[in-house]
Amino acid sequence: MGSQIGVTGLAVMGQNLARNIARHGFPVAVHNRSESRTKQLIERYGDEGDFTPATSLEDFVASLDRPRRIVIMVKAGGPVDAVIDELVPLLDRGDILIDGGNSHFEDTRRREKALAERGLHFLGTGVSGGEEGALNGPSIMPGGPDDAYAPVAEILTTIAAQVDGTPCAAHIGPDGAGHYVKMAHNGIEYADMQLIAEAYDLLTSGAGMSAPEIAQTFEQWNEGDLESFLIETTATVLGHTDAATGRPLVDVILDEAEQKGTGRWTAQSALELGVPVTAITEAVYARALSARKEQRTRAAGVLPGPAGGSTPDGFVDAVRDALYASKVVAYAQGFEQMRAASDEYDWNVDPGTLATIWRGGCIIRARFLDRIKEAYERSPELPNLLLDDYFRDAVAGAQDAWRKVVRTAVDLGVPTPAFSASLAYYDGFRRERGPASLIQGLRDYFGAHTYRRVDREGVFHTLWSEDGREVSAD
Ligand code: 6PG
Repeated sequence: MGSQIGVTGLAVMGQNLARNIARHGFPVAVHNRSESRTKQLIERYGDEGDFTPATSLEDFVASLDRPRRIVIMVKAGGPVDAVIDELVPLLDRGDILIDGGNSHFEDTRRREKALAERGLHFLGTGVSGGEEGALNGPSIMPGGPDDAYAPVAEILTTIAAQVDGTPCAAHIGPDGAGHYVKMAHNGIEYADMQLIAEAYDLLTSGAGMSAPEIAQTFEQWNEGDLESFLIETTATVLGHTDAATGRPLVDVILDEAEQKGTGRWTAQSALELGVPVTAITEAVYARALSARKEQRTRAAGVLPGPAGGSTPDGFVDAVRDALYASKVVAYAQGFEQMRAASDEYDWNVDPGTLATIWRGGCIIRARFLDRIKEAYERSPELPNLLLDDYFRDAVAGAQDAWRKVVRTAVDLGVPTPAFSASLAYYDGFRRERGPASLIQGLRDYFGAHTYRRVDREGVFHTLWSEDGREVSAD
């Protein structure tokens, strides 16, 4: 008997995923382009399960049971195509390739189609949870044909994180659906982290608290509705002292945020779909602005801010409430985007399933996801989470604090792009009639772009140069 599954690409994520598979009793073949990593894995962890190390892709493929199940854990982009190209001649019809990296969903769609033409299955699979998750239970989002998922379902659901006995892995939909929702997960992760960073900024440069004090605040917040991996991790990072200087580590880390692309892709796709995901997009912009250190340093010396001021009473609690309300908006937007993408590409993605499998294993895991799961149970077709009773009440309860925090931020000159954009979205969303009538009027004036009326059916144009006479433009 051969191995039930193989993993090629043994950097930390691949290595940990292979160990996770082996620890659950599934015989696993392992392969890496440079042999030293394979050797190292076997030397260090070979006794954790039934590993079959392979030095060549030929041996690797030959050691697998059929249909062959191969997880590719290499860098997104060209390296995935390179591995696929090498593997394809060695495979037979019905074999299954599983790309577990952060691939762009359009690449996944292309690969799935090309491989299907050769009788091979492709599962573009989002895997979230970082190194620790890969080893001890990630959240897994496979996308591809039913025929490809069925033979790997048992392994994937077994190695995934489990919450209340439910695995954090489920078949998301066909072709690029799995990688799309992983991309959106990361976009939401960007928004979550930006909101946390803004809260930290308000408490430090606004309220003058130290990093250890803010660490304690986050620890307390983690006892309530905000309870999540990222809030808990924030408390850990803020509470950490730099060994070399004795200062809080966060104070010696350079303030330039890097990014690998998934947040940007989320924003790009949202723009194409016409879905306003302002919190995620502001988070991407904030990282870009942070990276302009040289320009910011120049500007800091010449651009004046407000005269100064203080934070109001109860500010810390208000920031917590503002963070929660903004987070609701960020998730409402992200889930709306995934629904729009699902409609656009005909994926039939179930948002309730996403909320369920994101409750554990992944980076955005949170108590909050239970609330989202419940909202979709109450109303599977819910168009926007803000319209759910629980979230409506949560935001209504937080809105005074939310407005106070944004006002204070403006007065103090502390930038809160994600807090502010979320609040603006909320106010825009709850308006039955907004100012777009004027935009339509302007468009009609300078470009005869026409408009519709509130009181009559049809399409109209005003002859602006002829005393504003109106004609039907049908
Ligand atoms: C996860 C993470 C993981 C990775 C991000 C980081 O779900 O496990 O999201 O995929 O940490 O890709 O992305 P940036 O480097 O762009 O912040």
